[in-house]
Amino acid sequence: KLFDTTALVLENKEIQPGYFRMELAANDIACASAPGQFVMVSPGDSIQPLLRRPFCVHDVKEGADGKWILSILFVVIGEGTRILSRKAPGETVQVLGPLGKGFSLNTDTEECLLVAGGIGAAPMVFLARYLAQEFSPVSCKVLLGARTANDVLCRDVFEQIGLEVQAATEDGGLGAKGLVTALLDKALEGDSARQIFTCGPMPMLKAVAAMAREHNTPCQVSVEAAMACGMGACLGCALPKKEGQVKHLHACMDGPVLDAGLLWS
Ligand code: FES
Repeated sequence: KLFDTTALVLENKEIQPGYFRMELAANDIACASAPGQFVMVSPGDSIQPLLRRPFCVHDVKEGADGKWILSILFVVIGEGTRILSRKAPGETVQVLGPLGKGFSLNTDTEECLLVAGGIGAAPMVFLARYLAQEFSPVSCKVLLGARTANDVLCRDVFEQIGLEVQAATEDGGLGAKGLVTALLDKALEGDSARQIFTCGPMPMLKAVAAMAREHNTPCQVSVEAAMACGMGACLGCALPKKEGQVKHLHACMDGPVLDAGLLWS
């Protein structure tokens, strides 16, 4: 079920320079959301009604009053996100969702590898919480890659959920120096029924998908495409076609979570 609601901003915190976590009183959407799905959020200003932007559901938590809280995590990159970053508790935003297809867990999986690049950590928190709550015997590892230490997000949250976290930065400012794929290479050693869930920039997703294929490991990717409508109407979120593919897949309707095999062979 889809909801279009005016949601109260409960908290809007700059967790690291340039990165904001906004908590919203959006009980219906929070309850209906599955990990990997997204919402469209607009600042709700009458002057700029068109600034609706897609954000993956970052986290879902129960509030003190028993109502559920929905969080988004964003980086300020344009006018829409700048306005959102200035929203104070007590103000409201317009939220539409949940939208799109989320992650799914294979029942025979023994170990989940959550691989995120930069802001790609955003949907992984909800997924991690869900896996820890619903599939607790399944072991989970989180591999975070980013350019600098400032871009490594949510390490504390993953640890609070109880997951092992490894980080890699391109400048070596935190964790291993280099790319997250080097961490993944290690994590894929040995035999285990694994499943990879990944979100981040396209080149990283492609590299992760190639490694998954090599290891015969199922891999689901969450793509960060530019989405204007979120509902299959604008066709602006078409994904690059894989060789031999006839029709474009669209991030908002076919994804944002897709089997890696649908994008690369
Ligand atoms: Fe408009 Fe996908 S965002 S069709």
